[in-house]
Amino acid sequence: MHNSTSVKIISCLSILLMLVGCDNSEKNKITIQNKDNIINQKVDSLLALMTLEEKVGQMNMYNGFWEVTGPVPKEGNAKTKYEHLKKGWVGGMLNVRGVENVKKVQQIAVEETRLGIPLIIGFDVIHGFKTINPIPLAEAASWDLEAIEKSARIAAIEASAAGINWTFAPMVDISRDPRWGRVMEGAGEDPYLGSKIAKARVKGFQGDDLTKANTIAACAKHFAAYGFTEAGKEYNTVDIGASTLYNSVLPPFKAATESGVRTFMNSFNDLNGVPVTASKFLQRDILKTEWNFDGFVVSDWASIYELINWGRAKDEKEAAKIASKAGSDMDMEGNIYITELANLVKEGTVDIAVINEAVSRILRVKFQLGLFDDPYKYCNLKNEKENIGTKLHQEEALDIAKKSMVLLKNENNLLPLKKEGQHIALIGPLAAEKNSPLGNWRLAADDNSAVSVLEGMQAYSKNILNHKKGVNLIEGNTTFFHKVKINTTNKNGIKEAVLAAKKADIVVMVLGEHGFQSGESRSRTRLDLPGLQQELLESVFAVNKNIVLVLNTGRPLAITWAAKHIPSIIVGWQLGSQTGNAVAEVLYGDYNPSGKLPMTFPKSVGQIPIYYNHKNTGRPDNNASNVFWSHYIDEANSPLYPFGFGLSYTNFTYKNLKVKGSNFFINATVNVSVDVSNSGNIKGKEVVQLYIRDVVASIVRPVRELKGFNLTTLNVGETKTIQFELTKAQLGFYTNKGVFIIEPGDFEVYVGGNSDAKLKTTFNLE
Ligand code: BGC
Repeated sequence: MHNSTSVKIISCLSILLMLVGCDNSEKNKITIQNKDNIINQKVDSLLALMTLEEKVGQMNMYNGFWEVTGPVPKEGNAKTKYEHLKKGWVGGMLNVRGVENVKKVQQIAVEETRLGIPLIIGFDVIHGFKTINPIPLAEAASWDLEAIEKSARIAAIEASAAGINWTFAPMVDISRDPRWGRVMEGAGEDPYLGSKIAKARVKGFQGDDLTKANTIAACAKHFAAYGFTEAGKEYNTVDIGASTLYNSVLPPFKAATESGVRTFMNSFNDLNGVPVTASKFLQRDILKTEWNFDGFVVSDWASIYELINWGRAKDEKEAAKIASKAGSDMDMEGNIYITELANLVKEGTVDIAVINEAVSRILRVKFQLGLFDDPYKYCNLKNEKENIGTKLHQEEALDIAKKSMVLLKNENNLLPLKKEGQHIALIGPLAAEKNSPLGNWRLAADDNSAVSVLEGMQAYSKNILNHKKGVNLIEGNTTFFHKVKINTTNKNGIKEAVLAAKKADIVVMVLGEHGFQSGESRSRTRLDLPGLQQELLESVFAVNKNIVLVLNTGRPLAITWAAKHIPSIIVGWQLGSQTGNAVAEVLYGDYNPSGKLPMTFPKSVGQIPIYYNHKNTGRPDNNASNVFWSHYIDEANSPLYPFGFGLSYTNFTYKNLKVKGSNFFINATVNVSVDVSNSGNIKGKEVVQLYIRDVVASIVRPVRELKGFNLTTLNVGETKTIQFELTKAQLGFYTNKGVFIIEPGDFEVYVGGNSDAKLKTTFNLE
């Protein structure tokens, strides 16, 4: 502790400890339940010491304002924020990072305010911090929960070493619309996979013990239904029915609460006419009451203010009233609570109980993080120096990057490439890119710090490598804050690229989207290869058909022409810091691809939303020759590549799908087994997937639903029997009233390597 004011916290905390009658030695013996009780008592005691303004202050979060290397801000908004901080009117800050910077704001909160309540320091640690891991959608393609957890763990280690104690992740929004740029931040379209990944990510960030200095509070966002934004357009309206809400949207959020996530973020969308920031139904009735969530809800950036734009509140005052009553506990950079809430309480419009509850939730998380025991626990310069961007973290980033790649096509075994004696032309605007592969949401990373595909491949083999860009994808530079400008005119490099392709045995083309073409506010109406890349691809194809397409993207793309003509296609997403090394290792076969698509790839934009777990309709595909069934006249119903799809350099065969028994009581566990063999020539890893169909039910059920998966490694010729258990949790569903039920009747089971699996059996529940 640094000066006399800090004595206040110490004395305040000792009063608190006296109040709860517990000393340190007793503390070690207590159970988790007791720990919770003690924290709750501490919260109550602290609350009793706070003025109304200090309470409202805890509900106020500001974006970083402090020019740490410069003087204290003198002007405008920054000055007000600084003064508020000194008065104890700020509960949390975001976008302040680095030990020195965090310590400066924390010191003001702790040492200069009346009660010395520490700040919670948030940041968008979405897929890494300094070391950048693959974008979340890519990681989801690994279906490797351990690796995903590890990736979040590393992100937490680095972020916490830089002073951060709260991440605005994981994003657990299910989405069926690749036009929406934020699909890159989530786990794709499926609620079962999404729930498993939500749990893994929360566990990775929060670890087993939140009081450790290298664990941080996680935040399940965006609550809820943001992924269903109409037409895939950002910040748009959401109108969905109860069965989609309960069965597809909410499960990953519920899973996050089950793994102890400490915070939730609401979002920018409405849900059936109610902006979710104002939704009591979501925030109080479901989250805090039904799910018993005892952490806090933060608004999305100024989403409380936006209630005015939605036409839900006439002014700031009404926005503050509606949002606080609905259960939004903290106002992120909206400046609404801090200006309105105290008066609303004083005039009797908002009950002080609403404020007390919100503040208790916020303080509880701060206690749980151990910030009252040591507000500077995340401010250790040595730790910062030693634990950010380490070699080990880079190795882990490489590991998950390899696991995230998805092989879509490999005609004539063009891949893996031979390591010697080949003349390779490496073509495309993304081949030498060092910035785009970092993807969006990489605010703490150094620009241009990714290993490019060119660098990775150069380092990997003795082949002749002739690199030609072909065309520029974007014009000039681009950043998180700017719209990318796509090059649609300058074709000068195509000739050169074609010439290089002519001379090559194999052409590797690295095409796709720039990392800043997906992410927040990056919706697209087209899902083709942007700019002049299609023209480049076809020009090269005209002279050399041996093309391996490495598709860099933050969303599914409708690469229909490529899927038809290009012999080998592998999805390389945006794989983070180690992109080039991962791509080289996979292309050269030292890692056998094992990823599977977490989102359907459409044939055309017109098919969207297209997702595997759709309902059957009254007129499903009946192969009839007439036109009166559910389909398009100009496009098939089937996707380009289905959910769960991904090839390997070996082959897997499935046999002997069995259910142990055929009739079960409604609450029984159904055991399913299948034999999976590696029938190819090299060792490989397969994601064995199990889907069910509830054939007749009181509400229409999807044609298939993923209910189990198993990531298994098989040597050449090896066969393994993979077991699955189906319990009530997998066999039931939510009614339109949100009640989870399980109904008797026939079930179909499909097991295989993607959502179109053909191997089938059945059983019955009675
Ligand atoms: C995004 C959130 C993010 C927040 C803070 C918002 O614009 O929607 O996902 O956590 O900004 O950066």
